[in-house]
Amino acid sequence: MPDIGFVNDRFLPLEEATVSVEDRGFQFGDGIYEVIRTYHGQPFQLDAHLARLERSAKAVELPLPWSIQQWVTYIRDGITRSGYPESKVYLQLTRGVAPRDHVFPSAARPTAVMTVREMKPMDPALQASGVSVITMDDWRWGRCDIKSVNLLPNVLARQKAKQTGAFEAVFIRSGRVTEGAVSNVMIVKAGLVLTAPEGEQILSGVTRTIVLELTKKEGLSVEERFVSLDDLQRADEIFLTGTTVEVLPVVRVDGKAIGPGGSGKPGPVTLKVQAAFQRFVG
Ligand code: PDD
Repeated sequence: MPDIGFVNDRFLPLEEATVSVEDRGFQFGDGIYEVIRTYHGQPFQLDAHLARLERSAKAVELPLPWSIQQWVTYIRDGITRSGYPESKVYLQLTRGVAPRDHVFPSAARPTAVMTVREMKPMDPALQASGVSVITMDDWRWGRCDIKSVNLLPNVLARQKAKQTGAFEAVFIRSGRVTEGAVSNVMIVKAGLVLTAPEGEQILSGVTRTIVLELTKKEGLSVEERFVSLDDLQRADEIFLTGTTVEVLPVVRVDGKAIGPGGSGKPGPVTLKVQAAFQRFVG
């Protein structure tokens, strides 16, 4: 099965897919991206991902080179060409190739890059047992709603998590929980599911939206408001949502066990939401 690369409008083997060293994505992080996975070979929530791509592009004044329908065609084509049972599609759009200068180039055309690789499911044992997280100061920029390729704080946070034996880093800004380095964060307190509101401090996760809908359908109450670090540490339950993590229980925060009675085990609400999500993706 081949890993697929795509540069501008050309498919090619991944190892042959290259862009210029003067690409502004490389030099300035002047670009945006999406990560889309398939279930049963079909791209999951493709419309929502492409709507977010459009929003990100607009926010950074980056013209989309094609219509949304054309993106859909390219993405589906890439998935078919790769032939994997399940694929992970990475899309990146930058402001193109130009001599290095901070101001927008007048002539450059955007660079669109896509990779299609096999999507290996998360370790089911980890999904069942839950994971540890650490908390970290959120020193990212003020527009975390834009899915920008400027991921240095996320990279450093995730590396720190790995070095300390944790799975994910949860960002705290001015004492409030924003999100994870690669996921959104939800806590359960007295049966209520709480998560940071959409806005400039978090990425509005495609999975987050679906999970909130499913949670309500399960008869659970949801509140989209910020919770404090203290709330996180004292939560009855915590879980992460995201394309790569799906619904993932958190059982330790900064080394301290959480869960029913400090058990360090996934709680009933998390398990209910996780099961609902698995049914949904079927
Ligand atoms: N990240 N928050 C951040 C900071 C993220 O990077 C992601 C996803 C999410 C979850 O969004 P979604 O449910 O749409 O995947 C939240 C992708 C997977 C990544 O950067 O690899």
